[in-house]
Amino acid sequence: MRITDTSDLWWKTAVVYCLDVETFLDDNGDGVGDFAGLARRIDYLADLGITCLWLMPFYPSPDRDDGYDVTDFYGVDPRLGTHGDFVEVMRTARDRGIRVIVDLVVNHTSDRHPWFLEARTSVDNPYRDYYVWSKTKPKNDAPTVFPGEESSMWELDEKTGEYFLHSFYRHQPDVNIANPKVRNEIAKAIGFWLQMGVSGFRVDAVPFLIEAPKDTEIGDPHEFLRDIRRFLQRRSSEAVLLGEVNLPYRQQFDYFGGAAGSELTMQFDFIGMQSLYLSLARRDPTALIRALRQRPEIAPESQWANFVRNHDELTLDKLTEKQRNEVFEAFAPDESQRIYGRGITRRVPPMLEGDPRRIRMVYSLLFSLPGTPVLFYGEEIGMGENADIPGRSSVRTPMQWDATPTGGFSSARSSRLVAQPPGDGYAPEHVNVVAQRDDPDSLLQHVQRLIARYRASAEIGWGEFEVLEHDQKAVLAHSMRSDLGRFVALHNFAERPMNVQLRLDDEAEDANLVDLLGPERMPLDGGHVSVELGAYGYRWFRVSRPGDGRLG
Ligand code: GLC
Repeated sequence: MRITDTSDLWWKTAVVYCLDVETFLDDNGDGVGDFAGLARRIDYLADLGITCLWLMPFYPSPDRDDGYDVTDFYGVDPRLGTHGDFVEVMRTARDRGIRVIVDLVVNHTSDRHPWFLEARTSVDNPYRDYYVWSKTKPKNDAPTVFPGEESSMWELDEKTGEYFLHSFYRHQPDVNIANPKVRNEIAKAIGFWLQMGVSGFRVDAVPFLIEAPKDTEIGDPHEFLRDIRRFLQRRSSEAVLLGEVNLPYRQQFDYFGGAAGSELTMQFDFIGMQSLYLSLARRDPTALIRALRQRPEIAPESQWANFVRNHDELTLDKLTEKQRNEVFEAFAPDESQRIYGRGITRRVPPMLEGDPRRIRMVYSLLFSLPGTPVLFYGEEIGMGENADIPGRSSVRTPMQWDATPTGGFSSARSSRLVAQPPGDGYAPEHVNVVAQRDDPDSLLQHVQRLIARYRASAEIGWGEFEVLEHDQKAVLAHSMRSDLGRFVALHNFAERPMNVQLRLDDEAEDANLVDLLGPERMPLDGGHVSVELGAYGYRWFRVSRPGDGRLG
């Protein structure tokens, strides 16, 4: 018999918000965001309606990869504050009903991590085996995930004359997970942050992490992931692992631990995200629909995490070359807006030429597609990138709170800011929280409304996805159905307004479609209903049946 009360699976209906403490709010006026600043903005996040905060790496770091190069897995970078400031953020967040997850970056360390400093002193140092070494440069060398920046995965260590493995930058040596001591260190770090009150981890670069070094026999690499999951759950039953796994769905299924759901709790849907951009470029939802239908069926406890933008390049690596070029031409026409031959360095609004109708439609999709939505800070107000900042960092500019030149991020002189906000149309003067907070037509209030409706529609996170039949090629109409009810959404990918003849054949004669974003209530006349959609329009409904006891 299956226990059906699953109400404690908070991540199935969460709204995750990703931010970097460094660029959110600077409390002490040194130009760098900090935990004390973040603590002051928890109320803003609660107001927005988010339920889970994902903190990008805040650990001590030489900051050569934006903190993804860690020198102490237990620390807080002194630029950002202290453990005391971290705890204050945790306390405030908990008080407002917000959970916190933190980035777990354990595929590699910084080359200045004490382990690596020790390891490179001699071939028989006790820490030598914490990393992956080769006496000669392996023949199957390949460029790292940063083509053009790092051409080899093996770096010669001058002192000992051997090569060490780095899947990312050369200053990020990969740890050796075949070494049980390393596995224990990883578990200890997990245990530490759980004791500090976090509700889980965003796990960085998972496929690289569990991959065994060449010629090492570790058996099934997924056993390590199962091990981490078991350890995590022993320490905290509510904790989640949200994994970064940019692989085809078939392999992602394995990273969930298959139907058993014994590995990652959640995974970002990179395939769905890339298909969404192809659909936007084509003004035709077919590619997105195909992706959503191809998603493997996962355990009820597992979950997809939807996103339209994150802190890295907007990768299009899983599209065919032809498809990728279509997206490039539509959204990154200039070569300088592209990176690594596979990605885009822009944020959503500039890609959509600032068209508010289209931008709203994209966020309407984010909050209504099956899964749990993940926002990257600043998306809720439509921040743009700073094209003058090279590479992936162009989208990691300070949060824009008000209309002053530093966007109210810091009282420091502009030249001292950790990053410069964009200029022109996306400058803080034009895009900021204060202006949008009081404007009912703003993107911020739109996102707030979507979040509120999403939170009241648990079917979106839980239900069964179904593409609905109708007569318009440019429209995605879908429903999410569970024993909680049925949610229906329509999205028009085209610029022309239209009427959609929607069919919900299996609904009862006396059912209604209740508008969730407006006042309308339409009878489902024998399952047929005509829905009006504006240019790039979207509608959200609930099927209401007499006596179902829902407020709408
Ligand atoms: C992940 C992060 C990226 C980082 C890399 C190395 O892909 O998202 O920002 O550079 O891992 O840690």
